[in-house]
Amino acid sequence: MTERLRLGVNIDHVATLRNARGGQHPDTVRAARMAVAAGADGITIHLREDRRHIRDDDVERLAREITQPINLEMAATVEMVRIAVAARPHAACLVPEKRTELTTEGGLDAAGLRGILAPVVRTLADAGIQVALFVDPDERQLKAAQELGAPAVELHTGTYCNATGAARAAELTRLACAAAACARLGLECHAGHGLDFENVAPIAGLPQVVELNIGHFLVGEALFVGLDQAIRRMRGIMDQARAEPRR
Ligand code: PXP
Repeated sequence: MTERLRLGVNIDHVATLRNARGGQHPDTVRAARMAVAAGADGITIHLREDRRHIRDDDVERLAREITQPINLEMAATVEMVRIAVAARPHAACLVPEKRTELTTEGGLDAAGLRGILAPVVRTLADAGIQVALFVDPDERQLKAAQELGAPAVELHTGTYCNATGAARAAELTRLACAAAACARLGLECHAGHGLDFENVAPIAGLPQVVELNIGHFLVGEALFVGLDQAIRRMRGIMDQARAEPRR
């Protein structure tokens, strides 16, 4: 297993901290540059309907100033599609979004929302944006993603991260089966949500997973060790898990 696992660093919570006081500090473009220097392969941002962290001008500045791939997480709404098509990020990950949630709570119901998702996937793809659907590790959802023509999915790792003991082991098995199903269905497999130093290795060791998106933990850890060190350590754990065969 030699392929380098990509790391997308989600910098939403750099913007959360900035927004607590307004102004420009800490700056998202500076954080993105530092993340890339520390080993991030791309920068992930979620422009939410309520703009609680990333704002429209962050999307514009990052798209203009960062040469590494930008992955825009977005709800499948007319407004977000318009913004994505104008900004032309490398990739867009369609996520479900509820106003009252603290963070993305579950995967997208790709199977139930085909009518809404089909034109969105098509419009983004026509604009040259690689589309991923953020889904739970459930084969029905993966099949729906494939039928919708999405080239990639991001598996929701939140349940795995929040679980302990046997429940975590069972969720890891679900994720492993879903990652294998992605390969059978011809879907590029990404994963993310809730990953940290302690829980990332088994996910990084899944051979079909080619990209992890990690944010909240890294930005929090940056308070103690700096963004550079936090990302370098995460990169190291991911690379080691990738190099070792899964036990
Ligand atoms: N992937 C998706 C689709 C997400 O919505 C998020 C949270 O914005 C992440 C990954 C990153 O999750 P976390 O901040 O818990 O690392």
